Formats: sequence, C-alpha cells, structure tokens
Amino acid sequence: MTRPGAIVTGGARGIGLACAEALADAGFDILVADLAEKPADGLADTIAAHGAEFAYASCDIADLPGHRKLVEAAMDAFGSIDCLVNNAGIGAVVRGDLLDLKPQNFDRALAINLRGTVFLSQAVAKAMLATPPVSARSIITITSVSAAMASPERADYCISKAGLSMWVKNLALRLAAENVGVFEVRPGIIRTDMTSGVSAKYDALIDAGLVPARRWGEAADIGAVVAALASGKFGFSTGSVIDVNGALSVPRL
Ligand code: NAI
Repeated sequence: MTRPGAIVTGGARGIGLACAEALADAGFDILVADLAEKPADGLADTIAAHGAEFAYASCDIADLPGHRKLVEAAMDAFGSIDCLVNNAGIGAVVRGDLLDLKPQNFDRALAINLRGTVFLSQAVAKAMLATPPVSARSIITITSVSAAMASPERADYCISKAGLSMWVKNLALRLAAENVGVFEVRPGIIRTDMTSGVSAKYDALIDAGLVPARRWGEAADIGAVVAALASGKFGFSTGSVIDVNGALSVPRL
C-alpha cells in the first residue's frame, strides 16, 4: 500500500524533528526541509528508526522561488504530499524595547515566519489538489501562544505569528470543501534550542506559576498533537486552533 508523504519545514531539530518522528510513527514518509545544505549526521537514521522513508531538501522558506524545488522533491520522493507541517520559524532577531525595533529585523521575522509560510502553504496546497489523496490530508501550522499574547520585547515575532493565525483561518475556508484539514497549533514555552538562551528566565517564571502545568513543554508534546491532527480523525475540526501550553493561555485571576 502506498504510504502518505509529509513535509516538515525546520524538521532538522526541536519541534520540527519531534513532529517528523511522530508522523513517521503514524505511518507517514518524511521529507525534512531545512536550511543546511545536507542533513546532519544521524537525521536520516533517526527518521528511519521510526519505519519511514526519509528525504531531505535544503530550503530557506523565505526564498519563494525555492518552493517549487521543494514541492518537486516531495513529489519525486513520495508521489503525493498528504501533510505539510509549517514549523520553520525564527524568534525575534533582537529582544528589546519595541521603541527600538529595527525595520530590518521586523522584515526578517515577517519574511520567514509569515511570508515564507504563506507562500509555501500556497504552493503545497496546489500540489495537493493536483494529485489524488493517499490518506487524509492536512496543512498544520505551528504558530505560538504569542499569536494572541503580547510580549513587547519581541513584537516582531508576535505580529508574525498573529498574521499566520489569520492565514490559517483563510486557508481553512479555502480548503474545507477540498477535504484538506487546516489547523493552527499554538505551542507555549517549549524546551528547544530556540528557548535555550532564555531558559533561566523561563525556569523562574514556570516555578512562579506562569504555566499552571508547572513544567516546560517538550517538543514531543507538539509532535503528538500534530500526528493526531494529520491522522484525519479531527477533519471536521478544520480551522481550529489547538493550544499546547499547559494552560498558560487560560485567562485567570
Ligand atoms: P529551533 O530554532 O530549535 O528550530 C527551528 C528549525 O527551523 C531549525 O532546524 C532551523 O534551521 C529551521 N529554520 C529556521 N529558519 C528557517 C528557514 N528560513 N527555512 C527553513 N528552515 C528554517 O526552534 P523550535 O523551538 O523548534 O521552533 C519551531 C517552531 O515552533 C517555530 O516556528 C517557533 O516559532 C515555534 N514555537 C516555538 C516555541 C518554543 O518555546 N520553542 C514556542 C512557540 C512556538
């Protein structure tokens, strides 16, 4: 039986890698798209250990002309694209007072997190619709709790994720009748390289009760949700936002 194929952007490490592993466990073959020219040693083995075919594409999602090559690589590898996980993203280029936010840093965050993701989703959606499905289909976008909760020291990041959130809603409407599930997954504070530089700050905040679950999120917490959404079992929930944050975003007194 033909196995479904998934693209995971930024899948070389962190949340993306956990999504790739969880999707592989769920029966998907995996194409990791990431910045490095070649996959790091061990990445192919890590994915293969979950029983999946592994493919890799070197890709900067901010480079829109490169999207065609990425889509072709996935089609060549798997014959269809059944799941796209829009995970690649960067944090604020510089954390600091928004009164000092530099236009070039704002542009960079938006170019990768928002513009790159929007147009890659568009390219993949067209490829999906041009071929018959192998399994349930989905486009799952990793935004952030920062799509809704403000952090004035990284306003560029928050704005990029808020914009992405609205993109997901629009894409869900466009693809609902095509039977492509479109979801936004909003992680809270997750232990990865992205947060390693601010881990002491978050340790203290979590200890003080910022996260009601009293722990860091792990990349695998996100992978588990993404694999469940990609299964198609939640197809009628298309357009939904799924918070994965230990109740961090629940308003409270
Ligand atoms: P990370 O920095 O550990 O990994 C990001 C991966 O994306 C890396 O492999 C990197 O090479 C790749 N990447 C970065 N820019 C790229 C580009 N232009 N094109 C292709 N690949 C690119 O980050 P982490 O923590 O795993 O984050 C993944 C996603 O989750 C991001 O979108 C981030 O905004 C989001 N997120 C992370 C949270 C956290 O606490 N770690 C919380 C909320 C959201």
